[in-house]
Amino acid sequence: MAIIGTSSFAQNAPTIIPIETRQNVLVLQTDKENHLGITYFGKKLSQAAEYKLIPSQSRQRDGNAGIYNSAYTPAGTWNVSEPALQLTHGDGNKSLDLVYVSHNKAKENDNVSVTSIVLKDPVYAVEVTLFYKTYFQENVVEQWSVIKSEEKKPITLEKYASANLYFIAKDYYLTHYNGTWAKEMNPEEELLTAGIRVLDSKLGTRANLYQPPTFSLSFDKPATENEGKVLLATLAWSGNFKMEFEVDSYHNLRLIAGINPYSSEYPLASKQEFKTPSFIYTFSENGKGEASRNLHNWARKYRILDGEGTRMTLLNNWEATYFDFNEAKLSELFKDGKKLGVDLFLLDDGWFANKYPRNSDGAGLGDWQENVKKLPNGIGYLVKEAQKTGIKFGIWVEPEMVNPKSELYEKHPDWVIKQPQRPEHYMRNQLPLDLSNPEVQDFVYGILDKLFTENPDIAYIKWDCNATTFNPYSAYLEKNKHAQSKLFVDYVKGLYKVLEKLRAKYPKVPMMLCSGGGGRVDYEALKYFTEFWPSDNTDPLERIFMQWEYSYFFPSIALSAHVTDWGKQPLKFRTDVAMMGRLGYDIVVSHLNEKDLQFSQQAVVNYNAVKDIIFQGDLFRLVDPKKNDYAALMYATKSKSKAILFSYLVGNRNGAGSDTPIRLEGLDASKNYKVRELNLYPGTKSAIKEDQVYSGEYLMTAGFNPVVNARRTSVVLEIEAM
Ligand code: GLA
Repeated sequence: MAIIGTSSFAQNAPTIIPIETRQNVLVLQTDKENHLGITYFGKKLSQAAEYKLIPSQSRQRDGNAGIYNSAYTPAGTWNVSEPALQLTHGDGNKSLDLVYVSHNKAKENDNVSVTSIVLKDPVYAVEVTLFYKTYFQENVVEQWSVIKSEEKKPITLEKYASANLYFIAKDYYLTHYNGTWAKEMNPEEELLTAGIRVLDSKLGTRANLYQPPTFSLSFDKPATENEGKVLLATLAWSGNFKMEFEVDSYHNLRLIAGINPYSSEYPLASKQEFKTPSFIYTFSENGKGEASRNLHNWARKYRILDGEGTRMTLLNNWEATYFDFNEAKLSELFKDGKKLGVDLFLLDDGWFANKYPRNSDGAGLGDWQENVKKLPNGIGYLVKEAQKTGIKFGIWVEPEMVNPKSELYEKHPDWVIKQPQRPEHYMRNQLPLDLSNPEVQDFVYGILDKLFTENPDIAYIKWDCNATTFNPYSAYLEKNKHAQSKLFVDYVKGLYKVLEKLRAKYPKVPMMLCSGGGGRVDYEALKYFTEFWPSDNTDPLERIFMQWEYSYFFPSIALSAHVTDWGKQPLKFRTDVAMMGRLGYDIVVSHLNEKDLQFSQQAVVNYNAVKDIIFQGDLFRLVDPKKNDYAALMYATKSKSKAILFSYLVGNRNGAGSDTPIRLEGLDASKNYKVRELNLYPGTKSAIKEDQVYSGEYLMTAGFNPVVNARRTSVVLEIEAM
């Protein structure tokens, strides 16, 4: 690795470090005192030499009041604004300064580079390295920091952000998300005003129940799909997070993002390192559409497990049976799955525990032995039965949790997160296990390892996590004289250790990340999971809105969408919506009438024929359901030879529908295309002329009307180049 720039503490000429992707740049620059600041973020200049001309916007403009644009703001010295790093030294002193020492850029390959910048406290033996990993083509930056102490006594980290950024624009519009169970991803856009706006979570295990660690930030004016400057960003951390947006006295915006310091002071021994989670962002000058395609391209190629692969269709029994099933019933469901044409049967909750059988959510969690009444012949028998029927077998687990009514709780009360002197507080009658404890990590790993060892043909896992962390207290940390304040962080680290070990032995088996719906959706977990469950709410009307919002940050290949009995929409509508992700079913197939069954069988065939376009294609959000009485989205292959357009009626006013053409995107203006309707319900006729040829130019300029209306509430079109 070549050292690109070095300096001593007393350097005069500024060091300029541009962090570049194909379209964008983040420019860092040292000042007279060697403090590192951000001078520019945005579209890349064609002459890199001109970065040095950019004036350092707000550094010390008001005398000694501090440096606002710091690349990593230390607490307790010259700085008086919100810090990125705050700590107490071994001797109790709380001051920190960070000056630039050196940087280097290491190329991993033609597309991926890591710039690391070393900062040091001139007085205390504390060092911080800032890492900026760039994915050039995708315009994505992944940023984290590593904090290291060589002080004799342990230091205590009080706040340890992943990223500290600085933006200069006329105005800042933040879009963030709120929600709760079955109501995930409600967007709100606001103009940021002076002061600090905080997005955070203190929920521990089910960290994103009320808020995900994702947001978009528009500069100057609210960005649209195809216009405006916009940053899409997310923190890759499955625990408490905090993002602070501070419009400062110069109307510039300081952003600090990382683990939530709430109740999380973290002691660091001499020579130990603390690596913060990654903050991942992309910027576009051309609106949210391009920015989200950047993230999709990056996530599929570099992040999500098997992101460039494919996904299986499945039949899940949760809503069909809940806890009430036995071998005979399941064997029938395998046949139903086969009849439907899906690849896999997913056995949900309720298959385990004997002393306190898992017949409701009130008992049994933690006792991962097959329930002998329901499954006298065990999982192995089910896997074989499924295979005999010609379908693969997958299974639900919730390995991090325990019901107080369980043998596990009776045997290992010290493995449970709870305050020993206070009444227990439950969510869904359960408590998290203490994953900071290596014994508990082994136990959790062991649940999965045993399932796979005994049943190597298990083809899919749904990993659930249904409770937040109340009464945070770890008997393990106490016993080993560790600070209790490590719990929130060490829990997540423990979880990653388990997943890492699991993936080392079972690298390929697809796993769904679920947390009572979308209570845990982030890009660190998605290193280990192939997909996530966005919400228990599968009402297709709600899903159109919800999946639209998730689609800014996550590609469709990662989004599980099931056809269920939720909502009032007809089966075709429900199916079309679920096709915009990894398609599954959670219905009683035997209750379908003949036409519904015929429709569904054909829909699975259609889906298999086009799913690669949905998984790997470019997504264009064409008509926003929040602003119109219908929605339209399309996926186009990178070669622009095929596309799928989905459109849905979402309003119910008289005459609601698509009465004008929609301008398509992502096609080749010079190619000719034919348009064909998919997923027609048996006995209905398409309103689309299938033999008409259109140029790409026509479809993208004059547009095309899918004819969505009260009689055609959901329309799927295949657009194919000739
Ligand atoms: C959670 C999940 C559901 C289902 C149940 C089982 O609520 O989100 O999909 O698996 O648990 O108890």
